[in-house]
Amino acid sequence: MRQSDYILETPINYRKDYGQFFTPSLVASIMAKWVTENKPRKILDPAFGLGIFYQEIRQLNLAYQWHFTAYEIDNNILSYLDSIENHNNLIIFNQDYLVSDINYYDAIICNPPYMRFQKFINRHEILPKIEQQICKKLGGYSNIASIFLIKALQELKSNGRLAFILPFEFFNTGYGKEIKKMLIEKHLLKQIIIFANEKDIFPDATTTICILLCQNDHLKQDIKITNINNTQEIKEISNISDYYHHQLNHTQLPPQKKWTPIILSLLSEQKLPEGFCKLSEYGTFKRGIATGANDFFALNKSKIEQLQLNDNNVCLCITKSNLIKKAIFTDKDIELLIKQDKPIYCLNIKETNNQAILNYLKLGEEKGYHERYLTKNRQPWYKLEKREPAPILFGVFNRGRLKVIRNFTNIINFTCYHGFYPNLFGNNLIDKLFIYLISDIGQDIIKMNKRSYGNNLDKFEPGDLNDSYCPNIEQFNAMNQQKVNEIIEIVKRDEKEAILMSNKLIKKII
Ligand SMILES: C[S@@+](CC[C@H](N)C(=O)[O-])C[C@H]1O[C@@H](n2cnc3c(N)ncnc32)[C@H](O)[C@@H]1O
Repeated sequence: MRQSDYILETPINYRKDYGQFFTPSLVASIMAKWVTENKPRKILDPAFGLGIFYQEIRQLNLAYQWHFTAYEIDNNILSYLDSIENHNNLIIFNQDYLVSDINYYDAIICNPPYMRFQKFINRHEILPKIEQQICKKLGGYSNIASIFLIKALQELKSNGRLAFILPFEFFNTGYGKEIKKMLIEKHLLKQIIIFANEKDIFPDATTTICILLCQNDHLKQDIKITNINNTQEIKEISNISDYYHHQLNHTQLPPQKKWTPIILSLLSEQKLPEGFCKLSEYGTFKRGIATGANDFFALNKSKIEQLQLNDNNVCLCITKSNLIKKAIFTDKDIELLIKQDKPIYCLNIKETNNQAILNYLKLGEEKGYHERYLTKNRQPWYKLEKREPAPILFGVFNRGRLKVIRNFTNIINFTCYHGFYPNLFGNNLIDKLFIYLISDIGQDIIKMNKRSYGNNLDKFEPGDLNDSYCPNIEQFNAMNQQKVNEIIEIVKRDEKEAILMSNKLIKKII
């Protein structure tokens, strides 16, 4: 289906009149996956456009018979569809969805036209009919998109799922109150997805956009709030239900109140102690070394001996998250890990004229490690990314408490940890920053930027950490250095006690 041709050949004012803004395929794909999870047979798209949702659902290759009904008012846009007659499970009605007879569907997926109802063609004729169908008084100030939603919710079968794109401002409008009431009281609303930089994701859109995920199952569940910042993030989501940053119960979203401030306060810095600044003022978190073939690059002492590799071609490296068990990491810990024959080394080839190295590389090539996505694009394929040892390490995946490590060694690390690299301002604040990061307040504030992966598993990208907040320089300067040194000593013996002391110290400065 030829979206680019259509956009090029159609004047913008024509598209505006029909509310023709297109859903990017990545977003449509997430919605398609969600609505089809319960194996729906009858699926509806009330505003078909060029059929991105139908396309995405087809690509899922569902292993059962399903049928797709669509409405599209504009026959001009329909003439851009490629050979839809070949698709015998698709029926498109070239009609106004709002005046169509009520029908029932197992799944509904939609990016409705967005325009004031007053601008809608024939509104005087159709208003009474719609009001009668949906048993609600609408008033002329509604937005077409919300009327689409009300009608679609009415057409959703029991247990059916609905994914709907809406302007975020809908949550604040007077006309939105009725719908919000319905979403909350009937326990339809399950998740709200907000796009922080919608221009990146929806270049075509003129308003801030969100997606509502609803299910007609009457189950009283918390409502998940997901905040998406960029297209890359969307690509990494495998199951949107497991990907959220906050949960709200129904009392936290009263229909008569504006929802935007409630939701934004969850995502913004409002709960931050006064004066806090971005962590990036003190340095940068960077991801660890991505080898593309950890099995090949990570080595233990016995393997190094067996392969007869010399010290010049290996370096000390944290190759797995669980090699570090405590919040302070010292040379003594390295010695112990070496004794225990843990994979605490990484291949770092400096001499290619060495027979032992050549043999090992040949072995790697036989196993196809040089053909992996990352290695294939490196010159030579076994070249290691450059990283300096980082004085603070931060676990990429965390359950419950965030894994923060004060690294007193010269070890480098793989991608299981992000490393903090201080700048001039951060250089003298490493211990203080570490104390902040292990304190309960610090952990809560950093978690504001987490990405939830379900099952209490949280992930952080380096950018999430750089954008998170911490005390400003005056606040850090006000921290008692003697107490700081004391805590660093205590962490080695008693982490719980150190956290309590850190809490007290941080409370004092904020
Ligand atoms: C925002 S676009 C979405 C198109 C496509 N589903 C997508 O997501 O890319 C809305 C579509 O609904 C169509 N439309 C507008 N008013 C309509 C109505 N009353 N009934 C059915 N379709 C309508 C427009 O022509 C437009 O193609």
